[in-house]
Amino acid sequence: MKINNIHYRTIWLEEATPNVVQVIDQRSLPHEFVIESLTTVDEVAIAIKDMHVRGAGLIGATAAYGMYVAALHADVDYVMDALKTAGEVLKMTRPTAVNLAWAVERQLAVASMAANKDEAVRITRETAGAIANEDADFCRRIGAHGVSLIEKISQAKSGNTVNILTHCNAGWLAFVDYGSATAPIYAAHDQGINVHVWVDETRPRNQGARLTAWELGQHGVPHTVIADNVGGHLMQHGLVDLVITGSDRTTYTGDVANKIGTYLKALAAQDNGIPFYVALPSSTFDWTMQDGLKEIPIEQRHGGEVQYIQGLHEGTIKKVLLTPQTSPAVNYGFDVTPARLVTGLITERGICDASAAGILKLYPEKAAQTKLSP
Ligand code: MRU
Repeated sequence: MKINNIHYRTIWLEEATPNVVQVIDQRSLPHEFVIESLTTVDEVAIAIKDMHVRGAGLIGATAAYGMYVAALHADVDYVMDALKTAGEVLKMTRPTAVNLAWAVERQLAVASMAANKDEAVRITRETAGAIANEDADFCRRIGAHGVSLIEKISQAKSGNTVNILTHCNAGWLAFVDYGSATAPIYAAHDQGINVHVWVDETRPRNQGARLTAWELGQHGVPHTVIADNVGGHLMQHGLVDLVITGSDRTTYTGDVANKIGTYLKALAAQDNGIPFYVALPSSTFDWTMQDGLKEIPIEQRHGGEVQYIQGLHEGTIKKVLLTPQTSPAVNYGFDVTPARLVTGLITERGICDASAAGILKLYPEKAAQTKLSP
């Protein structure tokens, strides 16, 4: 993705300093573009927990690089011990997005085959790179599949603008490149299809207003930021043609955990007969979970994120108090949208029904990991 016409990914190693992980610090966006260097497992863990980096795909890739950093600093005789400890630390940072645990487990599996520390360092570095490349490539393919949905609506509207509503940031900042929910939108825009995006601000941290709006603007995609409560009204008045969101964890039955507020958009979409699609790379499926409401762990974050709001004031990024100082606040990070409200899933292998049958038709090799297997 381009920022001021320079191509960036959200995470990378510089050739001259391969022991240092570079990330875009998303806390300062959209007002400042800051690159942060991460050199220790603790720094990587803090970057994930405090959301310098965020979004399902990117926290998976960051955790993978965290495991590489752990191998670099491990005692030669205790490399696997160091990796297991780092894995536990990293997995505890954010519980909902399954990509994080998936990336840690993948690193532990490959590292366990290394004969010595040098090999473990090489193998974890290569695997982190492979996870990042795969993430970007899967998102690109989500775009290639998802664009057909937008194309069809555009044709039905005789080329008039297709209005798409999205929630939170499931854009390239949430992945390594392209994004999940945004990938079909970027692909449509690049093909010359008229699109316009309604961007939910996404309280409390405003990932929509701060990040999705900034990304879309950098790519030249027409968009409008709306308060979180506006979507239902727009849908009732024919101003939304399609909803596309991302996912942080999707059960093999099609229940979707995504940023808090997604469920309400799905309810409104169903009431108004508007297609509600969820875009996700396969690293976001949890092949062990059947019932999203009962099984997906929902992260609860500090109430301060609800009580305070951040913005630019006279050239400086500031936080201000919104609520009465003494009013407590609760901060659930995610909610679960049941499969029955999801029109379909857009994956790197194609579009499928949000059901075990639909998902396993695209990923038959995963059937053995599910509870459906005999
Ligand atoms: O808390 P965040 O910002 O890490 O939440 C993750 C998200 O960005 C959204 O839930 C997104 O729609 C899915 S992740 C691509």
